[in-house]
Amino acid sequence: MTNKKILLSGVKPTGRPHIGNYFGAMKQFVDLQDEYEARVFIADYHAITTVQNAEELSRSTMDVALDYLAIGVDPSKTLLFKQSDVPEVCELGWIFNCITTMPYLMRAHAYKDAEAKNKEINVGLFDYPILMAADILIQDADAVPVGQDQKQHVEYARDIAEKFNRVFGDTFKLPNPYILEHVKIIPGTDGQKMSKSHGNTIPLFATDEEIKKAVMGIPTNSQGVDEPKNPELDHVFALHKHFADKDEIAEIERRYREGGMGYKESKDILISNITRFIAPLREKRKEFEKDEESVKKMLKENGAKAREIAITKMSQIKRSVGL
Ligand code: AMP
Ligand code: TRP
Repeated sequence: MTNKKILLSGVKPTGRPHIGNYFGAMKQFVDLQDEYEARVFIADYHAITTVQNAEELSRSTMDVALDYLAIGVDPSKTLLFKQSDVPEVCELGWIFNCITTMPYLMRAHAYKDAEAKNKEINVGLFDYPILMAADILIQDADAVPVGQDQKQHVEYARDIAEKFNRVFGDTFKLPNPYILEHVKIIPGTDGQKMSKSHGNTIPLFATDEEIKKAVMGIPTNSQGVDEPKNPELDHVFALHKHFADKDEIAEIERRYREGGMGYKESKDILISNITRFIAPLREKRKEFEKDEESVKKMLKENGAKAREIAITKMSQIKRSVGL
């Protein structure tokens, strides 16, 4: 045990990650793994709310593990594991269910959005924040790096910890979301939040062709090359902010405002910058892909360690409850 603060976060295995996931959350796992005692997992239980095919789920789970490794999550520093290797989170989820009201869960954005879209909402989706609270609280997390869309869920975990502590006595630490202002909502190719469900993503491990296609598809207005342009209204410029260095951004901004930079040139610069950023990640991922057996073994060993921590916490929780 160290006296470092505990960082915990997870990503659902539900398809390829995109650059919104990377800048909004995953990059922080890498950047903070020295400063914190880091624990990062693959949220496979959460994924079953939508992925209901065994082959697909286990493939996507391995994919997320490879993604983490490729971006630089280092298993010698970060406890990298699979959520379902810690089944105690479901046990804790039940206890949290019993101290949480339905109206409170009905205020969750994710639930309200699904309802507004008339989606069929399974009980797992409704209960999603409870399981997430269990993930966070069973590991005594201090900081939870996530994108803006998960902020409310971390606040729910904090509320549930407070409620539990009030009802059963002091048992849980109160976690905080860790959200970086400039990357809290990465826009997609249409200017809305980048999201798989909006079809506006640039995959984190995109091929050169995919990068080109995504950038070329960004809608722009019809202003000619020489016309002055407002960079703040342009979806291409919004993405430059994440891929160009300070000087280059300033130069692009100047040329937008003065006139002289057309959207075609702006897109070409963006394609080249994104490609330069993604190509080495893609190469690294290929290396890890060669040995999935080692990755499986690492997940298993780490899962056992994460479970041990959870079991110790769970016995304290059970004493608090009187189980
Ligand atoms: P998910 O794919 O829903 O499991 O999301 C994984 C992580 O990426 C979560 O912390 C999200 O908040 C974060 N995230 C997803 N989309 C974006 C985005 N467009 N901008 C910033 N963060 C995001
Ligand atoms: N809900 C998160 C997402 O969609 C994934 C997740 C599950 C998570 N449990 C968590 C994130 C605990 C942080 C902490 O991205």
